[in-house]
Amino acid sequence: MNEQDVYDAIVTRRSTRNYKPTPVEPQKLARIIDAGRYAPSGGNSQTNRFFVVQKQEIIADLIKLVEEAFSKMDVYDGMYRSLRNSILRSKEGGYLFCYNAPVLVVVANKKDYGNNMADCAVAIENMMVEANALDLGSCWINQLRWLNEEPTLLEYMRKLGLPEDERVYGAAIFGYPATEDGKPNRVPLPRTGVDVVYL
Ligand SMILES: Cc1cc2nc3c(=O)[nH]c(=O)nc-3n(C[C@H](O)[C@H](O)[C@H](O)COP(=O)(O)O)c2cc1C
Repeated sequence: MNEQDVYDAIVTRRSTRNYKPTPVEPQKLARIIDAGRYAPSGGNSQTNRFFVVQKQEIIADLIKLVEEAFSKMDVYDGMYRSLRNSILRSKEGGYLFCYNAPVLVVVANKKDYGNNMADCAVAIENMMVEANALDLGSCWINQLRWLNEEPTLLEYMRKLGLPEDERVYGAAIFGYPATEDGKPNRVPLPRTGVDVVYL
């Protein structure tokens, strides 16, 4: 294993929010999904479920349902900024929570399993790092998690195959970045927090 390559794929991963419509090659997508499936899981539960959405009509339905759901919600002082922005932008209309990416991967897990979100998070990070190694852009997408109890969206996810006892705990988008050279921006953000204590 080349440690430098693994390290570089991790530290140069950045969120991409502007994509070309070019589809992701099936082989590359399969590697990304495998990277997610091979993430660790609490007690080796392996209960993550991946919905790999490439059908643009499904993404369009989700965009509509997400916008409708957020439009009905109120904002309040001190609300988590990203959630507040999602609500306000939905009320304005035309809110594209997944930035026209060609692939949306939704990760679900058991509702009553204590590590559901942790297992989902490690899988998403694995997939985003693998995407970076493949010159693809990615971004975590949280709207479906915020709305994971919203009845209309839940019903829609049921039709896509989400079992009764599962909920969505995260999602990510993948695709070729709409940059001049088609490669992801790889300039790391300065670390301003994330303190470390060596003892
Ligand atoms: C739990 C979590 C939720 C996030 N949700 C969203 C989101 O819904 N939409 C979005 O554009 N970015 C989302 N992000 C991406 C962060 O905004 C991004 O990682 C952060 O600004 C640092 O930028 P970088 O990824 O380019 O290093 C999320 C990231 C995490 C870890």
